Amino acid sequence: MTDLVLSDRSLDALKLDAVIVGVASRDDELVVLEGAEQLDPDALVEMLVALGAKGSDGEVTKTVLPGGPAPVVIAVGLGALGGDDAAHPEPIDTERVRKAAGAAIRATKGMSHVAITLAGVNGEYDAELVQAVGEGVMLGGYTFGEYKSEQPKASELPATRVSVIVDKARATANTSALKRAVKISEAVAMARDFVNTPPNDLYPDSFAKRAKALAQQLGVKTEILDERRLASGGYGGILAVGGGSDRKPRLLRLSWTPTGIKRGTPSVALVGKGITFDTGGISIKPAAKMDLMKTDMSGAAAVMAATLLVAALELPIKVVATIPLAENMPSGSAYRPADVVTHRGGKRSEILNTDAEGRVVLADAIARACEDGPDYLIETSTLTGAQVVALGERTAGVMGSEEFRDRVAGAGTCVGEAAWPMPLPQDVRDGMKSKTADIANIGTGPGGMLAAGHYLKEFVTDGVQWAHIDIAGPSYNSGGAYGYVAEGATGAPVRTILHVIEDILTAG
Ligand code: BES
Ligand code: ZN
Ligand code: ZN
Repeated sequence: MTDLVLSDRSLDALKLDAVIVGVASRDDELVVLEGAEQLDPDALVEMLVALGAKGSDGEVTKTVLPGGPAPVVIAVGLGALGGDDAAHPEPIDTERVRKAAGAAIRATKGMSHVAITLAGVNGEYDAELVQAVGEGVMLGGYTFGEYKSEQPKASELPATRVSVIVDKARATANTSALKRAVKISEAVAMARDFVNTPPNDLYPDSFAKRAKALAQQLGVKTEILDERRLASGGYGGILAVGGGSDRKPRLLRLSWTPTGIKRGTPSVALVGKGITFDTGGISIKPAAKMDLMKTDMSGAAAVMAATLLVAALELPIKVVATIPLAENMPSGSAYRPADVVTHRGGKRSEILNTDAEGRVVLADAIARACEDGPDYLIETSTLTGAQVVALGERTAGVMGSEEFRDRVAGAGTCVGEAAWPMPLPQDVRDGMKSKTADIANIGTGPGGMLAAGHYLKEFVTDGVQWAHIDIAGPSYNSGGAYGYVAEGATGAPVRTILHVIEDILTAG
């Protein structure tokens, strides 16, 4: 991984391969943003304009600046600024800086040492922007090379050393901002690594064991229920969905219960869907793109990483993650349409489609999580294709108790993990009545994302503030890298969950 350091020295003294500077467009003119004073901004604008740079969002232009402190200048666009346009405010927000840092770092392939001046774009170096730069660099440079026989060449890898330029390198605020960026990025990378790992290596038991090894290093308590303990505990949903696979299901619980929690601090339960591969089961999916269903444990990976991140940051709040792990396979022992399963807590579901399996395992997990009496419950899952139809590939749908739902969606937007609140209409719930059991696992009409939300609601104890984040689209980027979002797993919504937990810690 990239070695990130703070520097307040002159760029000339750093022996750089390149300097990264921010550019933008203001009234359709290219401007070099503040922070780049050590270069010759006028000469730089002239050079960049000649190369056709506009300063638009995500634009990366490489140029030379004779007599400058480095052989190459990398100008990264932050988009339009100012004017009356509320969408493009000044000062520049952290998300635009995070995105720019991510795009810029991928333009440093083959270089060893670069400096990045983006923490100064608002005229003074700012610790929040130091964090954004750190996250952008680490997340934008992420790659998953575990299964390549050959190590990538240096010419294919981003710069190994990145100096984040500030005015006071040893200022406490800057140092802790960079440390925080590293911890957050490591958690996001951990979630991405789990999701990117192929399902022949990442299955319920191996997921649980890998999580346990990571949790032990951070003082997070682990509990793993195997199929025998799932049976004695009444986890009928997890056993039904996992029953078709030779790789037996698990329930993983991660508990962070630090000392020094202030009296009155709310507790948080996290739940994430951990289907390590979703064939659809007996209601089998078509062959095309079925490989994408290795990502059906993205919610599980995100809540695991978020819990470990809360521990790494030593936040004084109780967080317990409940993670149901199963592989949804068709076989002679698979569950069937028309089966009735009895969940933890006693409610029964009639299975009408075995491909709506996520909610069936989540029902058990949510019921278990609520037994601890949490104040808040955040659940996240690659739950429905309908989420992608409704909101596209990059915006998560959030359902739940209204106030908390809006708070969670707001937190997502705030950290750059787009999320939008969604309703739970009564007519959609009416379509889920079962003739045989308490509820059917699918609805009858359109609105599949909302039906899934309604189903989950059934298992949340009254009085618990809860939110369900459907990340079927946002958990995975099937296209090329953009901003700080790498190809493949995105690690969403780890940063949203952290933001909500920190908000609960300060505001209750
Ligand atoms: N894992 C899928 C949802 C999904 C789709 C995730 C696309 C990521 C990308 C889920 O288990 C599923 O198959 N849902 C069904 C539900 C239907 C049978 C009611 C769906 O969305 O089609
Ligand atoms: Zn499915
Ligand atoms: Zn699924």
